[in-house]
Amino acid sequence: MSKPLNVAVIGYGFMGKAHANAYKKVNNFYPELEYRPNLSCLCARDADKAKSFADTWGFDSIETDWRKVIERDDIDVIDICSPNNTHHDLAIAAAEAGKWVLCEKPLSMDTAEAERMTAALEKSGQPNMVWFNYRRVPSIALARQLVEEGRTGKPFHYRATYLQDWTIAEDVPQGGQTLWRLDAAVAGSGVTGDLLAHSIDTAMWLNGPIVRVVADTETFVKQRVHQETGKSQAVSIDDACMFLARFANGSMGTFESTRYARGRKNYNTFELNGADGSLHFDLEDPQYLDFYEHKKPGSDQKVEDHLTGWRRIHTTNFEHPYMDHWWVPGCTIGYEHTFVNALADFLAGVESGKPAQPDFRSALQTQKVCDAVLASARSGQWTETGVESFEA
Ligand SMILES: NC(=O)c1ccc[n+]([C@@H]2O[C@H](COP(=O)([O-])OP(=O)(O)OC[C@H]3O[C@@H](n4cnc5c(N)ncnc54)[C@H](O)[C@@H]3O)[C@@H](O)[C@H]2O)c1
Repeated sequence: MSKPLNVAVIGYGFMGKAHANAYKKVNNFYPELEYRPNLSCLCARDADKAKSFADTWGFDSIETDWRKVIERDDIDVIDICSPNNTHHDLAIAAAEAGKWVLCEKPLSMDTAEAERMTAALEKSGQPNMVWFNYRRVPSIALARQLVEEGRTGKPFHYRATYLQDWTIAEDVPQGGQTLWRLDAAVAGSGVTGDLLAHSIDTAMWLNGPIVRVVADTETFVKQRVHQETGKSQAVSIDDACMFLARFANGSMGTFESTRYARGRKNYNTFELNGADGSLHFDLEDPQYLDFYEHKKPGSDQKVEDHLTGWRRIHTTNFEHPYMDHWWVPGCTIGYEHTFVNALADFLAGVESGKPAQPDFRSALQTQKVCDAVLASARSGQWTETGVESFEA
């Protein structure tokens, strides 16, 4: 049975485009889904730009005030693709109006906001999801499968990096479209909320809750011109952040993120070392998962020494996560497909009654780790995250 779903996308920037593309494609690549999203409304403050984007992507209407969108009875889903300081009010108003809510990461500016947002969604009982889309990279989903199959064994180490290089120049302004990430009043934090939130979500999905952290941050460029005021003002974000972590399962973690790693564009990597095997992933080479197998799961049989070695798994077989919905083995998928896969999981979760993760409660746990990291960087002390046991 076909169920139409009227979607309003808030924001026409980077994520507005990625999500609009996902809504258009999801039923083509996941034809078994009953829900049929329709691009009903695009909301952004600049009417001309909103109209131009809406025409390009085939939205039925535009609005320039998100409150008007939420008042509309013909809208079923609010999808928040606007900067971080808008997420809280939008999500709560949408939940109170009985809408389904999808929200970009990080869920909020801080944990207090995330708690209120989660409470509002749970009170409304409406479906919700946070777009930690990297879970839907087939290689990362395969990593989770291998951990669940017991192929890595008792975990000892988890190592994550998320490196970029686009803010090294001192004349990069802060504030305004795309550069709001450099303004803590809009972003909440710097690389911690923007990049490490992804690394933390992936880490807790693969290796369980992070219970305590100790962190150090740096702001390399202290003053930048603000795009909106034209005035030079203090930079309030963390340009770089490194932290040590302890997981509930006893393993140790290191996390490093910066926008000052010359040559690194979106270098999001992780490595997990367990007693029976290791996994390594690099988002700049996303179609591969590296796996070192030391011992077969469920047996004492060690892999013969002359056969050990890192294995590069090209995750394009029909047997790999998501790939039976795309092309034939050997043909890769890319960044935009992770949003299609995420949306398909979300809709399938609503249809089956088993909600897809990460929902708001799951993303709240990531927010707690981000806040603990920033608090630790200020105090110089190990800091408890307060992460609860949760369905990742
Ligand atoms: N999942 C990911 O990998 C990923 C990647 C990039 C960004 N993000 C997240 O997505 C969100 C948006 O980031 P982006 O890169 O698309 O930003 P962007 O600057 O490219 O676009 C933001 C959009 O929001 C609109 N906007 C701002 N304030 C608004 C308001 N009050 N009402 C309506 N529209 C408003 C802007 O006009 C713009 O269209 C952020 O939370 C960001 O952290 C997630």
